[in-house]
Amino acid sequence: MERRVNVSVVVVFVVIALLLINGSEGDPRSKMVEIKCGKIVEHNASVFVPNFVATMENISSQMRSSGFGVAITGRGVDTNFGLAQCYGDLSLLDCVLCYAEARTLLPQCYPYNGGRIYLDGCFMRAENFTFFDEYKGPEDVAVCGNGTGKSSKFQEAAKAAVAQAVVDAPNNQNYARVHFKPTGGGQNDSTYVLANCWRTLNASSCKACLENASSSILGCLPRSEGRALNTGCFMRYSDTNFLNPIPGGGSSKGTVVVIVVVTISSVIVLVVGIVIAVYIWKHRKIQKKRRGSTEVNKLVKTLHDSSLNFKYSTVERATGSFDEANKLGQGGFGTVYKGVLADGREIAVKRLFYNNRHRAADFFNEVNIISSVEHKNLVRLLGCSCSGPESLLVYEFLPNRSLDRFIFDSSKGKELNWEKRDEIIIGTAEGLVYLHENNKIRIIHRDIKASNILLDSRLRAKIADFGLARSFQGDKSHISTAIAGTLGYMAPEYLANGQLTEKADVYSFGVLLLEIVTGRQNNKGKSSEFSDSLVTIAWKRFQQGTVEEILDTNLMLNDFHRSNVKAEVLRVVHIGLLCIQEAASLRPSMSKALKMLAKKDEILPPPTNPPFIDEKTMELNDTSDDPFYPQNGSSSASIANISHSSFYPR
Ligand SMILES: *[C@@H]1O[C@H](CO)[C@@H](O)[C@H](O)[C@H]1NC(C)=O
Ligand SMILES: *[C@@H]1O[C@H](CO)[C@@H](O)[C@H](O)[C@H]1NC(C)=O
Ligand SMILES: *[C@@H]1O[C@H](CO)[C@@H](O)[C@H](O)[C@H]1NC(C)=O
Ligand SMILES: *[C@@H]1O[C@H](CO)[C@@H](O)[C@H](O)[C@H]1NC(C)=O
Ligand SMILES: *[C@@H]1O[C@H](CO)[C@@H](O)[C@H](O)[C@H]1NC(C)=O
Ligand SMILES: *[C@@H]1O[C@H](CO)[C@@H](O)[C@H](O)[C@H]1NC(C)=O
Ligand SMILES: *[C@@H]1O[C@H](CO)[C@@H](O)[C@H](O)[C@H]1NC(C)=O
Repeated sequence: MERRVNVSVVVVFVVIALLLINGSEGDPRSKMVEIKCGKIVEHNASVFVPNFVATMENISSQMRSSGFGVAITGRGVDTNFGLAQCYGDLSLLDCVLCYAEARTLLPQCYPYNGGRIYLDGCFMRAENFTFFDEYKGPEDVAVCGNGTGKSSKFQEAAKAAVAQAVVDAPNNQNYARVHFKPTGGGQNDSTYVLANCWRTLNASSCKACLENASSSILGCLPRSEGRALNTGCFMRYSDTNFLNPIPGGGSSKGTVVVIVVVTISSVIVLVVGIVIAVYIWKHRKIQKKRRGSTEVNKLVKTLHDSSLNFKYSTVERATGSFDEANKLGQGGFGTVYKGVLADGREIAVKRLFYNNRHRAADFFNEVNIISSVEHKNLVRLLGCSCSGPESLLVYEFLPNRSLDRFIFDSSKGKELNWEKRDEIIIGTAEGLVYLHENNKIRIIHRDIKASNILLDSRLRAKIADFGLARSFQGDKSHISTAIAGTLGYMAPEYLANGQLTEKADVYSFGVLLLEIVTGRQNNKGKSSEFSDSLVTIAWKRFQQGTVEEILDTNLMLNDFHRSNVKAEVLRVVHIGLLCIQEAASLRPSMSKALKMLAKKDEILPPPTNPPFIDEKTMELNDTSDDPFYPQNGSSSASIANISHSSFYPR
């Protein structure tokens, strides 16, 4: 008897838990209804973009706590004024999801300096002037559904419900929901109405906006659905119940049952349990019917359930709310932070400020593909926060950061003896072979360089920042106006006419080999004592048979006493020169290069000349460095600081 009571109590508790979860589950209604962009182009992109991004961020934090936000960033003609609001029936969680969709779509308006987007669950607008008390405008329209003609009973109910909403909203924090079922009418004659003015409007402006909206929306009758998209408000009527349940609606029942469970005998408990189970089963069915199975709902479910998805709050906590102290570096599309998860795992978080090309769903799919590409010499992408207020990529954290910090620093360079460097070279080659030749997707990295080779705790190489280029290809923002890649590492055919094959990576890899054994940076040409690039110097020395004179002194002092080391290092220079040959067809494939590196006694063909690039004419967009973990104060010449790899589904 005692045991049975316990079992029933557990059953009932589970049931109650389900009920509560079910009660709090809503629909973010993040389907876009319409986006309207301004007609005036921004004045100065390098001012406009950061202002816009800062506004979105500022609003994002307000949305999470109140479902509404306004922000003003900057001054002058590119000042950004932003407003976003979720409609009154969305829970804060659903609001975050809807806003996430809005803020990834609105930047489509760029380079126009303003725009507004209406979704079924939220609204957002940004301009370079204050519009917070605007409530009407020439673009106010109604968008009618194309459902079948409804009965006159439905039309009466719709008119009455819309009128009611206009009266209710201005006195109810600018929000109203109405459900009318005409007397004597069937289920088909029920009408559901939502009306919401932006919270910045006072009651009289709200009323004026809704009056206009109501008369235009009623023009949709006898169709089953209408939406008014006005400057200061949103209104919708429908014959289907799109409204989210009123929060807390289900929970009071749960509380009552708990008391019942504790005080009454087990038989009754069982009966109550069954009754509740049946209730929930029915309730769920109704909810399912109401919500339908739209793409958006599927997405939301995927994002909630997938192990790749990190909760925004988790990542935020891990990085100490993106504390400056945790900043590892600044890249073109965002900043990299170090974070520690609750279980102690260390992560690197890349915050993508301007992930505007892709909706949350596409971005997530892409992350999904890339995270399936797994190899010991590739930095692991653990997942993303794709549906949160901003797009975050979560990577494994590598304590030793990047290779450039070692090889270009004569004292830290001592930590990498020849054995380690050889291991790094082989590891990098293996990682590239995998990217080029794995059977899932073929990935061309496009930006192999020392700062994109990260080192784990045992100084083993892991290639960073591959695979995301598709998200950023064709991005119109100022950050990607030129070819992606880093000057000095770019293959001539790619630099000259954007021709991109795996051989472009082979070229960059060749430059990297020369850097690893010489300790010199290829693109440091004009600022150092050498006027020629490392590529040119290495080629000349190779022909003269004096390569030895340019090798890293750390290697010569510490390793050359061992037999074979010198020969091995010279062999790497030779292979490097084979990889940087001007004619792409003559460069070995990565797997061939790996073979040459591993089989240290195989005879190598003589290299033909490398390209002689006049670097001075190439420095068009010398803005900043964009490595994964950039070093401070570096001024190397990166043509465009975007994420630079590319991949093609097989
Ligand atoms: C844009 O603004 C930046 C920063 O104020 C300034 O350095 C740059 O010259 C401006 N560009 C143009 C085209 O006005
Ligand atoms: C958001 O912007 C407002 C002014 O528009 C400012 O007072 C506030 O500090 C900002 N908040 C954050 C988190 O940036
Ligand atoms: C908005 O931007 C446009 C174009 O850059 C400019 O002409 C206009 O003066 C700006 N408006 C305000 C209020 O600054
Ligand atoms: C109604 O509109 C939707 C989307 O606008 C469209 O896919 C659908 O075919 C239309 N249905 C009818 C009956 O016109
Ligand atoms: C409700 O509408 C559907 C189709 O629109 C129709 O098949 C059904 O008979 C209607 N039910 C009632 C009770 O009017
Ligand atoms: C409401 O706001 C509008 C626009 O800002 C203003 O013109 C009007 O006077 C305000 N009405 C009241 C009652 O405050
Ligand atoms: C609503 O306002 C717009 C813009 O002011 C106007 O063009 C439209 O005629 C109005 N609609 C109604 C039904 O009053």
